[in-house]
Amino acid sequence: MSNVSAPALRVSLRSVARRFEQPDGSQRTVLRDIELDIRAGEIVAILGPSGGGKSTMLRLVSGLDRADAGRVEIDGTPVAEVDQRSAVAFQEPRLLPWRTVERNVRLGLPRGTEPAAGRARVAELLRLMQLDAAVSLRPRQISGGMAQRASLARALARNPGVLLLDEPFGALDALTRLTMQDLLLEVHAVEPATILLVTHDVDEALVLADRIVLLGETPDAPGTGSTIRTILHVPGERPRDRAAAAIVELRSLLLEGLGVPSHHVSAP
Ligand SMILES: Nc1ncnc2c1ncn2[C@@H]1O[C@H](COP(=O)(O)OP(=O)(O)OP(=O)(O)O)[C@@H](O)[C@H]1O
Ligand SMILES: [Mg+2]
Repeated sequence: MSNVSAPALRVSLRSVARRFEQPDGSQRTVLRDIELDIRAGEIVAILGPSGGGKSTMLRLVSGLDRADAGRVEIDGTPVAEVDQRSAVAFQEPRLLPWRTVERNVRLGLPRGTEPAAGRARVAELLRLMQLDAAVSLRPRQISGGMAQRASLARALARNPGVLLLDEPFGALDALTRLTMQDLLLEVHAVEPATILLVTHDVDEALVLADRIVLLGETPDAPGTGSTIRTILHVPGERPRDRAAAAIVELRSLLLEGLGVPSHHVSAP
């Protein structure tokens, strides 16, 4: 796999802000003063309240959306509209229903891929994602977990230097979610792209990420939009022990930061 895998790329956000126009014509700031440097090959999780701008931040890095202020760069150059250096996978798999799994994954290949190389790459990804049995099935014939794996394979087909994941396992049952987390780490070990992962799940962030970014409004400036409140390094090599003291401590810190009342906070 390493012969085709693109090198992981660093990502930086400098003084980034994004505002949206409201129905009444006024402007509302969703993100402000975002400063973040992500190392090549690093896994960074973004946590924060619903509506706090997590998806917006991911869209800015993907090039699907543009910042109103500041700079978003991959490998030191500004992101382009639908930047070929990154790939996105969303909470819903967004597969084309009339195409087979194999054809859906093939859609992720970079433009101009030589057919034989493309077929080999797709076959490799289907194997890596444990989708061999689903190759010629259509999306309605496969499970949610398989569909999500196909979606991830399609994103990886591009050989992205930066993989952007917006709650990729959010719609899956708890057990499938754990399997997918393991699979993502396996993939990352083979193809170490830089990963930006938006999640609602504190444990998912603790298991997967090198660093966790807590996005939200600061208490001293309510209504001014989300910014980075904290960046936490997650200690320990992966796979991590969820019951390790340092992880348990970080979990309560994060839940507290997210405003979860302490009676919901318990050891695993
Ligand atoms: N294109 C847009 N036009 C107007 N408002 C938008 C647009 N995109 C996002 N917003 C607003 O920006 C805010 C942040 O949205 P975003 O989707 O980034 O939040 P989020 O943190 O991903 O939330 P969730 O956890 O629920 O997915 C929301 O109030 C949303 O309504
Ligand atoms: Mg979102």
